[in-house]
Amino acid sequence: NMDKPKIVTCTAPVNIAVIKYWGKRNEELILPINSSLSVTLHQDQLKTTTTVATSRSFQEDRIWLNGKEEDITHPRLQSCLREIRRLARKRRNDGDPSLDSTGLSHKVHICSVNNFPTAAGLASSAAGFACLVYTLARVFGVEGELSGIARQGSGSACRSMYGGFVQWIMGEKEDGKDSLAQQVEPQTHWPELRILVVVASAERKPVGSTSGMQTSVQTSCLLKHRAQSVVPERMVEMIDAVRRKDFPAFAELTMKDSNQFHATCLDTYPPIFYLSSVSHQVISLVHRYNKHYGETRVAYTFDAGPNAVIFTLEQHVPEFVQAVQHFFPPDTNGEDFIKGLPVSHAALS
Ligand code: PMV
Repeated sequence: NMDKPKIVTCTAPVNIAVIKYWGKRNEELILPINSSLSVTLHQDQLKTTTTVATSRSFQEDRIWLNGKEEDITHPRLQSCLREIRRLARKRRNDGDPSLDSTGLSHKVHICSVNNFPTAAGLASSAAGFACLVYTLARVFGVEGELSGIARQGSGSACRSMYGGFVQWIMGEKEDGKDSLAQQVEPQTHWPELRILVVVASAERKPVGSTSGMQTSVQTSCLLKHRAQSVVPERMVEMIDAVRRKDFPAFAELTMKDSNQFHATCLDTYPPIFYLSSVSHQVISLVHRYNKHYGETRVAYTFDAGPNAVIFTLEQHVPEFVQAVQHFFPPDTNGEDFIKGLPVSHAALS
């Protein structure tokens, strides 16, 4: 029955970059100035759930984010819809007999919800666009490489198309066909690795990543240096540390890369501040903690917001959480103080 709506629901987890993506060489295709590497969280942790319905009776494409209808004409959203429909049409023209009969001309209704604060620098766009592209692909019977489409929704989204440790290879081609995500190791590779999120603020970030990157590319010479001379070697070292499960090497590269990313934000003119005083206190705490034990047991990383993402090994979780709770007691009265404490112990397996 062609009038019966077809409905598909999928989830996609957040990914946390340990080598950061910051800066585009092509705004429209979303091609980065450097490669990046991230860890995708476990499916049941921070994630987006998207339902796509399609029916002959729908008059137009529509989208709801966290229950509120949003503008479907958003250019990145349009890129994803267009690319999925293009692939579906191509498969049909190639005469793939396994294709289902969902009408390509049918309009879609999309509902997407996050189980964490949107746009607080917790990679909500990454999980969101990865989930959207994956769900649309299922609806229209498209298979195969999809990270290149997710990338056109939000750069970091291409990395959420795979689990475990994932690199986004910047590529060289002008058309972006080789700017894709690739799994380095599956999530089962390093089962002792743990991720904690220290929520310093659940508010929306003041400067979005799109405009922040533009200003950085235009004004920061540190960013140019980073992309050309720092990240290429760092990618090799990071992949090696992950493969060897060398926590101190992984942790030190992660912290240095987060620090350099925020230094390029400071080098941007006018400067961009994503870290708050609470973030700085978390950074100091991590360094004091590691120094106390005479080894690197814990690492921090921060994206475009003040919330800390902590990497550690399973055996150190209770002790580190205790240290955080000691220095940042929950429910402190101060208005600008930490609002919540570790919200999630995201296991990787
Ligand atoms: O994909 P976007 O536009 O949300 O940019 C993400 C940028 C960072 O989160 C700061 C770094 C990264 O690699 O995820």
